[in-house]
Amino acid sequence: MTIIPKPASIQLRAGSFVCTEVPEITGDPVFSREMETVQHQLGSPRGKIRILCTKVDSLPDESYRITIDPEQVQIAAGAGAGMYHGLQTIRQLFLSGQPVPCAYIEDYPRFHWRGFMLDTSRHFYTVPFIKKLIDVLSLHHINRFHWHLTDDQGWRLPVPAYPLLTEIGSKRVKCRPVREHRAGGFYTEEEIRDIVEFAGNRHIEVIPEVDLPGHASAILASYPGLGCTGGPYRVEDRHGIFEDVLCAGNDAIFDLAAAVFDTLAGLFPSRYVHIGGDEVLFNRWDHCPKCQKRLQETGLSSARELQSWITVRLARMLNERGKIPIGWDEVLEDTDRYRLPQDAVIMSWRGTEGGEKALEQGHPVIMTPNTAGCYLDYKHYEDPEEPGHIGVTTIFDSYMLDPAQGIAPEYAESILGAQCNLWSELIYAGRIAEYMIFPRICAAAEAFWTPAGQKDFDNFSSRLPVHQKRLDRLGFIQYRGHLKNPYSDTKNS
Ligand code: ACM
Ligand code: ZN
Repeated sequence: MTIIPKPASIQLRAGSFVCTEVPEITGDPVFSREMETVQHQLGSPRGKIRILCTKVDSLPDESYRITIDPEQVQIAAGAGAGMYHGLQTIRQLFLSGQPVPCAYIEDYPRFHWRGFMLDTSRHFYTVPFIKKLIDVLSLHHINRFHWHLTDDQGWRLPVPAYPLLTEIGSKRVKCRPVREHRAGGFYTEEEIRDIVEFAGNRHIEVIPEVDLPGHASAILASYPGLGCTGGPYRVEDRHGIFEDVLCAGNDAIFDLAAAVFDTLAGLFPSRYVHIGGDEVLFNRWDHCPKCQKRLQETGLSSARELQSWITVRLARMLNERGKIPIGWDEVLEDTDRYRLPQDAVIMSWRGTEGGEKALEQGHPVIMTPNTAGCYLDYKHYEDPEEPGHIGVTTIFDSYMLDPAQGIAPEYAESILGAQCNLWSELIYAGRIAEYMIFPRICAAAEAFWTPAGQKDFDNFSSRLPVHQKRLDRLGFIQYRGHLKNPYSDTKNS
């Protein structure tokens, strides 16, 4: 039976079931939201096939069981998330339209955090595209959408107290590669609420990211007083890491952060807020009188330590608003004097070392190593004609990702899960994004979900063509080339 991610257990039974006509979904009204959402995905019922949704209190939140009989499918779950995942498994079968054997399926996730990040700053994507993506992520039981809303190349979040962030900060000077009509944009409050609700109906939590104190060109272009030099600044159209960051000596950066966090708290029900913290350069802080004064007040010995001082303050501000901070692994550096609050979650992206160090210090961790299949802006294959940059992530690499590999068993509980990221410097249209995402995200979804002992790349490869036809039916562009890099994959297999 072709399902991606592969369920924990499938027992085949006699007989078969034909998934051609659109079924009618009925059952316990506690699942009315899930039943309605999935009925909408499948279309209006035709014929007499029924899917019956029943509540079994003993099943954990994300687990489900499916019994496929010749005329009926029964799904049992203890909560809406499990029911939704079960319905997505069935949706996959109906998307193929092939007869399937009768079977009994038991399924549950390996990791709680199964994430995907979209960078909507380097290029702006429309609301319909984001929804299309969220919908198909949920087909793979992915349950976190990390929305990278700000960066040097554009600020996408309306903050009422700081209107210039969108008036100025959402429009880059130029748009290279050439795409003038996409040189800017931001999401309205209504659009953000709409996306959060759309995702919520699919049991996907939306986690906003506002990158502070680096990657701040769009903030500085809008409010030059928040930088060390006063500018001039511009919303960048170049790629890279820029020297100008928020001035650590200026208390006004916390007024801005407070307004931003209030806005996020009002728009995003998620318990988490991602505050970035990656790739901060310290050169400006080294030479800025205000930053040097701050250094003396705080008793720190080098400007680079100011990042931890800022992060701790931002984390406290989020805690006051009932939120848990997430930061890229740099936020853990130079924290001897200003230790991060224990609940701060570390997203390990520069390999897994940052995550390992965070676990030793008692922080929860999300693994998203750029060295192990998680960076979908990398090329699919080493070929000069392939889009992508920096490195190569093969489908095999994404499949072989194991967030718990090499981690001592006592830390297992603190690994929340893993995530793939799509940085969009080169991805100037959603259709190109699709090519970068699929089918690597399908491979990663199996790494996030399926019990480790059940993972088998050859078996995954044999299921992939049928699954790719489903994605064709849903209208996605996909990479269809090499699954492995013949020169480097032997190290993993
Ligand atoms: C990152 O890739 N800069 C987190
Ligand atoms: Zn400064």
